[in-house]
Amino acid sequence: MPQPTLPSLSLATSLPKNTDVLILGLAENAGRAELVGGDAAFARAAMKTFGVALPELVSSLGGDAHAETVTVLPAVDGTRVIVVGLGEGAAAPETVRMAVGAAARKAVRIGDRIAVALGSDDPEMLQAVGEGALLGSYTFAKISGKQPREQRGEVTLLVAKATREAKAAVERATAIANNVCLARDWVNTPANLLYPETFAKDAASVARDAKISVEILDERQLVAQGFGGILAVGNGSERKPRLVRLSYSPRGATFHLGLVGKGITFDTGGINLKPADGMYTMKCDMGGAAAILAATRAIAQLGLKIKVTAYAAMAENMPSGSAYRPSDVLTMYGGKTVENANSDAEGRLVMADALVRLGEDKPDLMIDVATLTGACMVALGMRCAGVMSPDDETADRILDAAEAAGEEFWQLPMPDYIRESLSSKVADVKSSGKRQGGAMAAAAFLEKFVPADTAWAHLDIAGPAFNDESEFGYVPNGGTGYAVRTLVALAQQLAD
Ligand code: BES
Ligand code: ZN
Ligand code: ZN
Repeated sequence: MPQPTLPSLSLATSLPKNTDVLILGLAENAGRAELVGGDAAFARAAMKTFGVALPELVSSLGGDAHAETVTVLPAVDGTRVIVVGLGEGAAAPETVRMAVGAAARKAVRIGDRIAVALGSDDPEMLQAVGEGALLGSYTFAKISGKQPREQRGEVTLLVAKATREAKAAVERATAIANNVCLARDWVNTPANLLYPETFAKDAASVARDAKISVEILDERQLVAQGFGGILAVGNGSERKPRLVRLSYSPRGATFHLGLVGKGITFDTGGINLKPADGMYTMKCDMGGAAAILAATRAIAQLGLKIKVTAYAAMAENMPSGSAYRPSDVLTMYGGKTVENANSDAEGRLVMADALVRLGEDKPDLMIDVATLTGACMVALGMRCAGVMSPDDETADRILDAAEAAGEEFWQLPMPDYIRESLSSKVADVKSSGKRQGGAMAAAAFLEKFVPADTAWAHLDIAGPAFNDESEFGYVPNGGTGYAVRTLVALAQQLAD
């Protein structure tokens, strides 16, 4: 699955020669639009070219300082200028990330050499600017017999001084954005090309490049070890399931983070077949696995001092003569039995096996990530993910990391009456209950497969993992790479 790589990211203290596009900001202060970034020499050259100051020119072209409004201006000394709105007052890093992303989406259509000058040397801000520029530059190349364009672009961040802290911010932005886009690529690759075997191989190859050790359990090993959830879900498909285990164990690390990701390479609903409309985007149903794999790779590339063990549970949910049925009783890894309420509730079954296996590795904290329920999407919409945990302290850890990373998460409760709705007459537990509260019921189901003494949180990214509407900010159409940034920020907070 060869993809054009993202532009390179670097720092400069003056505008590089041959810059195709320069991105500047426009903020509103006390009712006035003011230019953010760009040095005095540039302002003089712009004045000479346009005869008016840039804010006036933007306004005369119908642009303004509203966050993410992009105004493309003519060239100054051969460099096209894009002015992007940053909203009112001092913009937060996520506002800047979104705005720069929106500008970068335009800029990459104009040229390969892009500079961004937003007048701040603050490392957190530089990281946001760098991430926004790279994430906004992303495109998924059409799968075509034609050769893709070879040219790799360049993004330069203009700073007053290229300090050590500024360089570290560029390194973080590069590792994070590249891995968010790795997750996007996996999600965008259709299910005839990306299925458990190919996904596992690709994951292994990029993880090994980052010096992560990899183990792949194939169908035979899954049978031998009794992974009844993964096997039941995968059994309806010709494409057999896999369980991928990544282990990153740097010297000196004291905290052990455990991750699990849902890797349903296509979810037809199985015997409980989805209607056509709901099925079309279901290549995105491995977005959780993509996120934990890509986040682990980012953590390794950044050399964070934290041990990470990650499991991606991969299967394709298909209807066929060998598919698992509603009312089947499955024996899961570790021996618990589950009554299958609905073959479209397949994600929690593959996750349950992986959670039990991860529990054996005895991590200090377990986090699972999944495009798990339509109910979470109904509750929180398309730009916000759900966090569920039996303890608020663990949920707060995730919410703090998400805030630092600029991703939106919201905690949903796990009340006892929801837990009780999963009782089964024929097995230890039933895989789902009522339609109402479906996101919480899924969390309550997963909880039964987490060791009682281990901190755990469940992240439901069904809404924001895939954008089937128009692009916005740094978010393209298709896979978004959601949760990668939050997991990396969490690892940064927990690392030694
Ligand atoms: N993969 C879906 C959830 C989903 C829906 C993700 C839309 C992204 C967008 C999941 O496997 C599913 O179908 N869940 C069912 C569970 C139900 C049968 C208990 C659902 O949410 O309807
Ligand atoms: Zn499903
Ligand atoms: Zn699913």
